[in-house]
Amino acid sequence: MDFRQDLIKALVQASKLKKEEVEILLSVPPNPQMGDYAFPCFTLGKNAKEAAEKLKKKVNLPKSIAKSVVTGPYLNFYLDTKAVAESTLTQIKKEKKKYGTSSKGKGKTVVIDYSAPNIAKPFGIGHLRSTVIGNALYNVHKTLGYKVVGVNHLGDWGTQFGKLIVAYKKWGKEAELKKDPIKYLLKLYVKFHKEAETKESLIDEGREAFSKLEQGDKELLKLWERFRKLSLEEFERIYSVLNVTFDSYNGEAFYLSMLDKTITDLEAKMSTKMSDGALIVDLEKYKMPPVLLRKTNGATTYHTRDLAAVQYRLKKYKPHKILYVVGSEQNLHFKQLFKVLELSGEDKEKFQHVNFGLFRFPEGKMSTRKGKVIFLDEVLDKSINLALDTIKEKNPKLKNKKEVAKQVGVGAIIFGDLSNDRNRDVNFDWKRILSFEGETAPYVQYTHARSCSILRKAKEHKMSVTTKIPFDLLNLSEEQNLIKLLLAYPKIIEEVERTEKPHHLAQHLVKIAQSFNEFYHKCPVISEDARQMKARILLVDSSRQVIENGLGLLGIQAPEEM
Ligand code: ARG
Repeated sequence: MDFRQDLIKALVQASKLKKEEVEILLSVPPNPQMGDYAFPCFTLGKNAKEAAEKLKKKVNLPKSIAKSVVTGPYLNFYLDTKAVAESTLTQIKKEKKKYGTSSKGKGKTVVIDYSAPNIAKPFGIGHLRSTVIGNALYNVHKTLGYKVVGVNHLGDWGTQFGKLIVAYKKWGKEAELKKDPIKYLLKLYVKFHKEAETKESLIDEGREAFSKLEQGDKELLKLWERFRKLSLEEFERIYSVLNVTFDSYNGEAFYLSMLDKTITDLEAKMSTKMSDGALIVDLEKYKMPPVLLRKTNGATTYHTRDLAAVQYRLKKYKPHKILYVVGSEQNLHFKQLFKVLELSGEDKEKFQHVNFGLFRFPEGKMSTRKGKVIFLDEVLDKSINLALDTIKEKNPKLKNKKEVAKQVGVGAIIFGDLSNDRNRDVNFDWKRILSFEGETAPYVQYTHARSCSILRKAKEHKMSVTTKIPFDLLNLSEEQNLIKLLLAYPKIIEEVERTEKPHHLAQHLVKIAQSFNEFYHKCPVISEDARQMKARILLVDSSRQVIENGLGLLGIQAPEEM
């Protein structure tokens, strides 16, 4: 079922233009009254209007097109309302949860690197964005038939561990660590930086401790392992609230044993040089600072570990692409990384930095060193509680209020992020994201719940199962608009993949919800007219299904009542 392709075929035949040309020319008119497709005839003759008239006579309309109309220099086409309704709704009814899936990515693997919080530090807002965007892209690629590997490249190695170890050995208390690990480790980290302001030798101690750690000091490694384990347990609590999972937790430390080989391999493939005792890749030619492979003191870097991770992933997963879902503040890091990969002979098209802007909470800006931190579990709790208040007010009789509040509160945060173009900075506004109106999760979820309620009511009416569905009755503009949005849904998923931007889907779901509500206000679904009712029920059920599928891809649940 591809109405556009059918029309393109017919136009190629009638115009003698190439398929590619027709593909580009065929557009969508500015408003639906002017039809569903517009074909400009400027290239077909000197007088475009005449050319349009001529083309109109020549073109053999496919079954799905009801009529064509010459509009100035354009030939416009109107889809047959019955054909659109029948093929779209039949397909959704048949495919259900699978509507929107495809085999586009069959045989290809995508590695998605997302979330990647830093051990012994709180899970930041940037990490929330990465988690939510990465998870949506994960689901979208899966639905398009790709094999997807979700990797949590944990920040579990680096100089901060030297500092933490020093701080813990000086001031740490076992019991407090057990009680609230991340908050306590943060406290120690903050204390370290505060003390270091007046006692510079602390910084050296930290450096030394990290160096010892890198050399495999047993005692320090044990401490590091504890910090890692305790942090991970807290992160996993957040992941379970967000319903996010990973295929691999191979963080930076995982690559330590491979770093020497990574460096030797790179040296063989490209030119590196020594500079002040450090091993670097000079990128001056490309107007970028050098990439440090090994520091003067022998320590490796964030870049080295990323290079090792690439080698490992290429070998292990043979991916078609690797996506890095990381904030824009790391643009330079990835530009350098990809340049080094290119210079070492890798296909640079394989790698993409899926970057994103800042997300500002009214609660304030983060600074781990100063201890000014927003704790994500607190943000999620707050959202869930606010959702609970609204539900208590709007639907006091609802049975599983707590569960629904969780779905709505968490959904609101996810959608509040994903409904924005990821490159934009967003000011987080509690009132707006939790509102039951506007571009919000609660609005879309509420529309889903409303459709479920209509379907429950409809069940009480006995409808004959044998009557064929009269698709021709779904011909009001409200019905047609809604159907066309459902029809476009699979294409929107492809658009998300093409741009790696989930907001296309989030915004499409808002459009579906709006269109659904217009339909619902205009067209009574439950009625005495059994045929009419049958057709509209199918439209309600199809809308419900597409909303459920779409929210699911974004990582958001669709409650049946709220
Ligand atoms: N842990 C890093 C940070 O919080 C992000 C890691 C992103 N992934 C990567 N392969 N570099 O800044």
